[in-house]
Amino acid sequence: MSPINIAVLISGGGTNLQAVIDEIDLGNINGEIKVVISNRKNAYGLERAKKHNINAEYVNKSKYDNDIDFNREIVNILAENNIDLIILAGYLRILSEDLVNKYKNRIINIHPSLIPSFCGKGYYGQMVHQAVLDYGVKVTGATVHFVDEGTDTGAIILQETVKVDDNDNVESLQKKVLEVEHKTLVEAIKLYCDGKLKIDGRKVIIK
Ligand code: GRF
Repeated sequence: MSPINIAVLISGGGTNLQAVIDEIDLGNINGEIKVVISNRKNAYGLERAKKHNINAEYVNKSKYDNDIDFNREIVNILAENNIDLIILAGYLRILSEDLVNKYKNRIINIHPSLIPSFCGKGYYGQMVHQAVLDYGVKVTGATVHFVDEGTDTGAIILQETVKVDDNDNVESLQKKVLEVEHKTLVEAIKLYCDGKLKIDGRKVIIK
């Protein structure tokens, strides 16, 4: 199978992006990151891309009158790079319906909780872990899922649990979950690029 052309969308530090870059460098994923796109100019993930000679594009939201035009620019970049698969790795903007429809079942997101808990509008970054601690759950984790028109509502590909210890705080929990995110995200991308993911309604069957 020819390598899958991948775009990674980020807004921050890009440790998930780095995990994907490293796994591809090890030859474990039949894919190639053709472009990294960020809505934030100073996202360190753009530096990570440049260090690996990967095309890094900052799309400045303030240059566009509205979200539709902003997302249209992203679609242009995706088309220019002949992208097959989009990875959202800490990307903090909502994708337009047009973009989601154009790439139906070809957009994968990583979320730092066990969906359907602690997800949806307003649940991102450290807020997720704070909500986990406030609720007092004993187990949290990471979820990799396909993106649909909702927020964190697409079919689930992989999940892995993380035990919440009594002495955990937001930082310690975020660190433990991030390690699991890296592992599950690269595994899900590997499965996708190997053609091993079959979507059946809300279920994702791993062949
Ligand atoms: C991760 O916790 C991810 O689950 C969430 O945003 C964070 C991104 O971290 N969507 P990084 O930029 O990949 O380090």
